[in-house]
Amino acid sequence: MKVSIIGTGYVGIVSGACLAEKGCDIICVDVDADKVDKINKGISPIYENNLQELIQKNVVNGRMRATTNIVHSIHGSDVSIIAVGTPFDGQRINLEQIRHAAEDIGKSLREKEEYHVVIVKSTVVPGTTDEFILPILEKNSGKSAGSDFGLGMNPEFLREGRAVFDFMNPDRIVIGGMDKRTTDRVAELYCAFKGVEIMITNNRTAEMIKYASNCLLATLISFSNEIANICSLTPGIDVKEVMEGVHLDKRFNPILHSGERANPEFLSYLQAGCGFGGSCFPKDIKAIISYAKSKGEVPKLLESVIEINDTQPYRLIQLIQNHFKTLDGIVVAVLGLAFKPGTDDLRESPAIAIINSLVSKVAYIKAYDPIAKENAKRILGTDKIEFPDSMADAVQNADVIIIITKWDEFEELINYVKYMEHQPLIIDGRRMLNKGDFKDYLGIGLYPYLSKAI
Ligand code: UGA
Repeated sequence: MKVSIIGTGYVGIVSGACLAEKGCDIICVDVDADKVDKINKGISPIYENNLQELIQKNVVNGRMRATTNIVHSIHGSDVSIIAVGTPFDGQRINLEQIRHAAEDIGKSLREKEEYHVVIVKSTVVPGTTDEFILPILEKNSGKSAGSDFGLGMNPEFLREGRAVFDFMNPDRIVIGGMDKRTTDRVAELYCAFKGVEIMITNNRTAEMIKYASNCLLATLISFSNEIANICSLTPGIDVKEVMEGVHLDKRFNPILHSGERANPEFLSYLQAGCGFGGSCFPKDIKAIISYAKSKGEVPKLLESVIEINDTQPYRLIQLIQNHFKTLDGIVVAVLGLAFKPGTDDLRESPAIAIINSLVSKVAYIKAYDPIAKENAKRILGTDKIEFPDSMADAVQNADVIIIITKWDEFEELINYVKYMEHQPLIIDGRRMLNKGDFKDYLGIGLYPYLSKAI
């Protein structure tokens, strides 16, 4: 099938490369000529595991190319995927990029005789496809939805860092559409994905499934954090043990025939920490809250999910403040800056709130992340923060070591700390260390015990 993809951001480029790999003929369209140039040279415009190899292979074998010319790409394809950004502007999602894409596609459809299907992949609140995008397409094309072109909604469920894997190994394919002709064509796009459950529905439901999925995962995280904060009020309770007990419920963690536990990945969202970040959860939850409110419904649970998440990073600051009279001049090693391991992305990372707060309290900060250093320098500035190249350099002479991102290498922290003359205070924001290994250890969901008060 011939596919044009409008927007070569994270979703567009991953979808393009993966569909090319599955045998589709892909034309990526972007207004940014530099990006287009890069793709045509087989270079990925973003970093994502295995993406570079996939783009290079499919550009060389002729199944993938890029252009700034939307008219040619619409005329030369059977379906178009809208994969432009929908940033949250503080009040609601901003639909400007969607508007431009829909206008351009509509104008291009004006001269096209054959039936065409437009698929919305960008995350948009319910009703956007039918009530916002459809009229723009009809107005700009002079054609009728249903008879001249079809309009569908096909959300993505890709995790940053594992997007190529997730696209190639989907757990579900959700296809919304205005009619059967549309959903049949979208389903054809995925015919090479054998054995995957395909759910056919209407556009509004498809839009809502995306939000409901992200809201549930974010709710699990805030739930775990709230339980952690209650656990920390009572000596002898550790949230790690509590959640371990919760995870043994066979409804969450089924016992297999072999007698072993299934240990679904879902359980990793039921762990206490210093909060979620990234380009999706915070934005999507705020967007659906604002959508609900615009319809007269106050979604109290989701508002609390955001509130808990916004305050969670400051719990770590509180732990330090309870320990030291003043933070002025205290050397703090911050381990982990990315919003999650496996990425160099700092967007909405709890590290930003924590470091800004420490800077305002005049602590001396040494911030380390295995791969997010350059992004961190750009976002946090280099005036008041040192960015050492290794964990060993970061923890040297530290009074406090604070863990923010669950990178595997931080599990080795004890091997760096045990030889230090002056034992630092460990603040474990991800509860990834063995608390008994350290002299002074504090963590989320743990009553603040110390071997010695300072
Ligand atoms: C998330 C969803 O997981 C994807 O299904 C969805 O497609 C994507 O948003 C999106 O809307 O585009 P992503 O933002 O890449 O993907 O991140 P996750 O890996 O889910 O992590 C989000 C947050 O949850 C992070 O802050 C992370 O620290 C936290 N998390 C993640 C956990 O607490 N536990 C985990 O096991 C994984």
